Amino acid sequence: MSKQHHAVLFVCLGNICRSPLAEGIFRHLVDEAGMSGHFTIDSCGTGGYHIGDPPHRDSIRVAKEHGITIKDQRARQVQTEDFHEFDYLVAMDRQNKRDLQRYAKKRGNILLLRDYDPDPDSLDVPDPYFGGPEGFYTVYDILHRSCDAFLNTLLKK
Ligand code: 4NP
Repeated sequence: MSKQHHAVLFVCLGNICRSPLAEGIFRHLVDEAGMSGHFTIDSCGTGGYHIGDPPHRDSIRVAKEHGITIKDQRARQVQTEDFHEFDYLVAMDRQNKRDLQRYAKKRGNILLLRDYDPDPDSLDVPDPYFGGPEGFYTVYDILHRSCDAFLNTLLKK
């Protein structure tokens, strides 16, 4: 098993719905694998609409129902240093990926999470912000199976 260090940044638009949940799920999976000493994990948004806000209440709830605490996270916007400090910037949808690529000078470390989804029906993690609470459960399932597959890929490196 890999003993390398991995720095992973999950990125969505607002950093209140999808990427905080991805961060929480991925950290939980890393802890379960006994690998927390080998990972730096964070999340951010391409937009600055919610800087300083906690995650959306429905993201907090679905995480809590699965034994994962994300309520203490605070939203931040992506910054130039992130492209140097993180090995992987993991975009939640293709628009997030395009926005990161436009921003970045070094593009090689920008990934799309659902490229790792073993059961993809789309390449995008759907944005639950404008829908009802049930959308957050769909997002949780997508994030869980995709983060699990992504982690296994990193651990095999
Ligand atoms: P997220 O969802 O990108 O998954 O955090 C959104 C949150 C806020 C907005 C859009 C998407 N917004 O337009 O404020």
